[in-house]
Amino acid sequence: MALIRLDKLLAQSGERTRSEATRQIRAGLVTVAGVSITNPATKVDPDAGAVLLNGCPVCNEPHQYFMLHKPAGILTAARDARAQTVMALLPQALLRRDVLPVGRLDKDTTGLLLLTNDGVLAHRLLTPKRHVWKEYLATLDGPLGDADVAAFAQGITLTDFVAMPAQLEILTSSAQESRALVRVSEGKYHQVKRMFAARGRQVLTLHREAFGPLRLDIPIGENRPLRGDEIAALRAVAQETEPREGSNG
Ligand code: URA
Repeated sequence: MALIRLDKLLAQSGERTRSEATRQIRAGLVTVAGVSITNPATKVDPDAGAVLLNGCPVCNEPHQYFMLHKPAGILTAARDARAQTVMALLPQALLRRDVLPVGRLDKDTTGLLLLTNDGVLAHRLLTPKRHVWKEYLATLDGPLGDADVAAFAQGITLTDFVAMPAQLEILTSSAQESRALVRVSEGKYHQVKRMFAARGRQVLTLHREAFGPLRLDIPIGENRPLRGDEIAALRAVAQETEPREGSNG
């Protein structure tokens, strides 16, 4: 039986950094086999399942990180009473591990969806202050021009907020239809569709190619676990200044 330090065990569960774990132990929030332990260096059995934080079991399993190529017509939600959700496309074992989508794609949007049970990293990736870029390929119902590029770069005013500056790269433009790459660093509800609507254009199709350092590289409907270097790159854009242990990256 390999014993490990209590602060390391808490950090390995991925919900907190090592120093946060130390603070929680010193504050008397942790019990081991019913006994309050306030010394972070105390050695415990990680498999005994007797460690509680605020009365809740601390588990010692590494986190899971997956990329999914979302098809159209499927909801980005953990569950829904009527509609099929993206969770139906994942291996069953992950559902038991509380793996959840990081942010949302609309029902008709296709492309890269990140899923994880690392709630800390998910939160850091979604907060607008970290400026994690998402890249979309959009088709529109009419022409785009330099004025649209400038408006995206300036930050488009919508009814309830001013969108942060975004990059618009026009690939093709004609009177009937255009195609463009859009890079945004926030993820408000219908954000890209609303930005184009503010410029008088309707989005016909929307496809996410990239989420921060991750690029979509699997066929539609499929999923794969992230590699260690991809998880490390996500941590870097999330500006994790302090390493957290136990996440396989
Ligand atoms: N912006 C949108 O409008 N929809 C999406 O699904 C993603 C970004």
